[in-house]
Formats: sequence, C-alpha cells, structure tokens
Amino acid sequence: MSNPGWADWQAVEKIDPEAAEAIMAEVHRENTKIELIASENFSSTAVLAALGTPLTNKYAEGYPGRRYYGGCEYVDIVENLAIERAKQIFGADHVNVQPHAGAQANVAAYFAFLEPGDTIMGMELAHGGHLTHGSPVSFSGRLFKVVSYGVSKDDETIDYDQVADVARRERPKMLVAGYSAYSRIWDFARFKAIAEEVGALLLVDAAHFIGLVAGGVHPNPVEFADIVTCTTHKTLRGPRGAMIMCREEHAKAIDKAVFPGWQGGPMMHSIAAKAVAFKEAQSEDFRSYSKQVVANAAAMAQTFSREGLRIVSGKTENHLMLVDVRSVNVTGKEAEARLDEVGITANKNAIPYDPEKPFIASGIRVGTPAITTCGMKETEASEVARLIATTLKDDSESAKNEVRARVRELTERFRPYPDVE
Ligand SMILES: Cc1ncc(COP(=O)(O)O)c(C=O)c1O
Repeated sequence: MSNPGWADWQAVEKIDPEAAEAIMAEVHRENTKIELIASENFSSTAVLAALGTPLTNKYAEGYPGRRYYGGCEYVDIVENLAIERAKQIFGADHVNVQPHAGAQANVAAYFAFLEPGDTIMGMELAHGGHLTHGSPVSFSGRLFKVVSYGVSKDDETIDYDQVADVARRERPKMLVAGYSAYSRIWDFARFKAIAEEVGALLLVDAAHFIGLVAGGVHPNPVEFADIVTCTTHKTLRGPRGAMIMCREEHAKAIDKAVFPGWQGGPMMHSIAAKAVAFKEAQSEDFRSYSKQVVANAAAMAQTFSREGLRIVSGKTENHLMLVDVRSVNVTGKEAEARLDEVGITANKNAIPYDPEKPFIASGIRVGTPAITTCGMKETEASEVARLIATTLKDDSESAKNEVRARVRELTERFRPYPDVE
C-alpha cells in the first residue's frame, strides 16, 4: 500500500507551527539525552504510525461484535487482533485492551469486585508501590480501607511473613502485588497462597515488568493471579495505554467495569497501536531485547556498586534499580538536577525507610528499557553508570563538560529516532 499521507508532519508544521516546534523539540530531547526513567521507553515507528491513523475518529462503545454504534466492522478486527495476541503471549483466558492508562485499569479491576469501604492491601508507596495501590492522595486511598505491606529493614526485600500476618489480621478483599520501584522478582506463588488462605482476590499490577514477561525473562503473573493489570508503554514498548487480563470466570465483571463502568468509547487508534506492539513483542527480536534490558540493568548495578553507590536490596533482577545517593553525599533531588545538567534523565525516588521527604528523597530510580531500545549493551550501560557516578561525586564544571561530551558521543550512536534531525 502506498503511504496514505494522513500522518502528514508538514501539515502540522503548516497549521500549528508552535505545537510543531514543541513536538520536534521533544523528539530532539529524546534523541540527545540518555533516558533512564524506568517507566519510559521509545515505541517503534510502526506503533507511532498506527497511533496517527483515522481510527481515532471511530466511536466503538462496547466490545467486538457487541457495539453500540454502527460501522465497527474494521475496528472489531483491530481489537480482536490485540486481544488474541495478548492471549497468546501471556496465556490469559480473557483480555480487555480498552483501559486508557494503568490507573484506569486498576480502577476497573477494583470496581469489578469491590464496593467503597472494602479493604485492599497493597505495597506501601514509600517502599515502591504505586499511588493506585492505596495512597491517600489517589481514589484508591479515598474510596477503600487500605492496609499495606512493605520491605524488611534488613535486606530491603518483601517480607512475605509480614504480608501473611497483615493479611490474616486484616482479611482484605483484594491483595495487590506489583510495584513502581522494586528491583527484585516477586514470589507470585507465595502471594497466591496468602490470598487463598484469607479469601482475597489476587490482583497483580504488572505495569512495570509486563514486557519482561512477554520477552520470557520474568515469571508470568497470569499463571497465579485472578486479575493482572498492566500498562502497554513501559517495558512492553507499545503506545501509552493499558490492558487487563483475567480468568474466564471474571471476564464479565472486568468488561462491565471498564465499559460502561469507568470509561466511555475506547481509543481505537491506541488499540490498533497495541495490536502492532503485541505483534512486535511476539518476535525473536523482542526476546533478545528483553534479555538485554535485564543484562544492562545488572551491568549498571555492578558498576554503581564498584563506584561506591549503594543499590537498594543489593542488586537488581529486573529492568530497574534504586540507587542510594546518600553514599556520595547528595540527595535524590540534587542528583536528579545534576544529571539533568549533563544530559542524563533519571528521577529522584524515595528509598525504603527514607529519612527525607519524598520531594527531596535519598535515591534515584534508574531503568534500562529506553537505552536498550536505542541499542546499548552492557559496555555502554556500565559506562552510563560510571558517568552518573562521576557527575554525583564531582560537581566541577570540567567534570560536567567531560560527561556532557561523552553523553553527546553516546547519543549520536544510540538514539531512538536516528532518521529525525
Ligand atoms: C505499578 C503501576 N501501576 C499503574 C501505573 C499507572 O499507569 P498510568 O500512568 O498509565 O496511569 C504505573 C505508572 O507508572 C505504575 O508504575
């Protein structure tokens, strides 16, 4: 098929030069900085092209074959492709690909089974959990009774005995596993056993690590959980969005909770892009990519440790790590700002039992999904860790200039969109 021409960049420049300029400045930023935010990635030009299609025009409330609008025969095909691919990749009985984002997927998962006032039990935000797992500033903390678990003070890994004790005492209706900042593999079997013992449903929020599951380098929560929610734009490298997977017995409740429960019409352009991303995730290339994401994280953690920067819990087994920057006498906030000055993007992050307020924080969170998409391997990942260590230890202009020069050289070779000037 010839280029249909609707993704017409020149049209954006002509109609709205201000927006065009800001968009191109962002692409330039993505091309010229080293991106270490663990929840970000760079989607392929195929995914981007699918997003920029007239499928954004179509209202398709309902589900394939059962819509409230006419003219859904082609978007049905697209949504079924996404569903079937996700089922194949993760071995799920049922998949809903309509959630607009990870937070919306969690809302739907809760309200499929819970009433306001019911008890949910999730990982504490300050220990690596997510806002939607019960934080008082999110709907989850406002509408449910929340009990939490965390990591042990000794080894900074999940204290499964504490999880079991709290669950026995509080008898939550839903036990939530999953994280935004935890560098170890989760024992899903143990969580399932705890959930079964106390009569709770097990929800695994796999937003962060779902791509590693697709790539075959991480245990699959679908084998253990009643419901799995995940985003599609992090390690899975698809468009911004989410999905829910569940056992057949929960399918109706989940579908009803997404639509009409919490959302209106699905974003069909985004679902088309999810289908494309899932196709990519089925490839051998994606398996190699995922393996490399984990290898790069391990290489970075080793280098940080050699440079005297402490890794929370001692190591990483996934795509991210928390670096305790107190070891080089800076706060997380200072570290984030200094790294930004030299062209390295990472975020400050609280570490477990952090004495600092979250806005200051004692750590930074470092992830490898994005640099691995750009083609970096262990050698470059280790070098990036060394550049971070140099930047945090030496605040002189000469050290900064050296790091900036090296960042420039690396991003000339390893960038997400090399064809864009
Ligand atoms: C574990 C977890 N769940 C849910 C979300 C929310 O996803 P979204 O930002 O797409 O709403 C995130 C986002 O970072 C996350 O880390």
